[in-house]
Amino acid sequence: MIAILLGPPGAGKGTYSGKLIDIYKVPQISTGDILRANVKEGTELGKKAKGFMDKGALVPDSLIVDLIEDRIKADDCRNGFLLDGFPRTVEQADALEGIFNKKGLKLDRVINIIVERDVLFKRLTGRRMCKVCGGNFNIYTLPPKVDGVCDKCGGELYQRNDDKPETIENRLNVYEKQTSPLIEYYRKKNVLSDIDASKGAIDDIVKMITGVLGKK
Ligand code: AP5
Repeated sequence: MIAILLGPPGAGKGTYSGKLIDIYKVPQISTGDILRANVKEGTELGKKAKGFMDKGALVPDSLIVDLIEDRIKADDCRNGFLLDGFPRTVEQADALEGIFNKKGLKLDRVINIIVERDVLFKRLTGRRMCKVCGGNFNIYTLPPKVDGVCDKCGGELYQRNDDKPETIENRLNVYEKQTSPLIEYYRKKNVLSDIDASKGAIDDIVKMITGVLGKK
């Protein structure tokens, strides 16, 4: 199964991917996670990407496309993969199509996760991540049992640099301008399904997505 989770910052792409990979037994490929790991390790890519990420801007396409092409060559992608946060521009989507054509791969579905802007804002300002295992909590909707401590591994929780209100505003605007054209791009190709995720518990939204993606 090859699918893309498309949606604005805070739509729940990472949260739902984390559950879907257990159901479909395919890896999640999150360009945001890959970039953050590079920033943390201080790689050349991380150094180039950090300034864009901190402002809530997109990292240039040229830095992202090769990274994806390399990642999907890996052995764990042989039965498919779930793309989270890629593509984010029409140029990236065209490049992805080129890679798929070259490799004889077929995109099964694009899930367009729709969430109202005020809900996104609250989800992003409330998000807390674990420094150790990457666990995702939310002080409003999914609080940890102990304030500031990860339920899963006991690690310290932190707020992402780009989850500050002024940066969130910019990320949402960047999504509208640069990424939302992909909704029509994929709708025209008849591979897009809309999921309204403004309301509903995480597991309910996951059920709606598996309803669209079908059985393993
Ligand atoms: P990235 O990490 O991809 O960030 P994003 O797209 O802004 O998405 P988020 O991770 O913020 O949100 P999400 O949709 O995964 O939501 P989550 O599941 O955490 O990218 C970061 C940066 O990297 C970009 O700004 C850019 O600079 C760069 N970048 C990345 N990819 C790039 C690319 N392809 N090209 C160029 N640049 C790129 O959920 C949010 C919160 O809501 C959580 O706390 C969760 O618990 C909660 N929640 C979710 N669903 C529900 C629900 N149903 N009910 C209650 N709470 C919920």
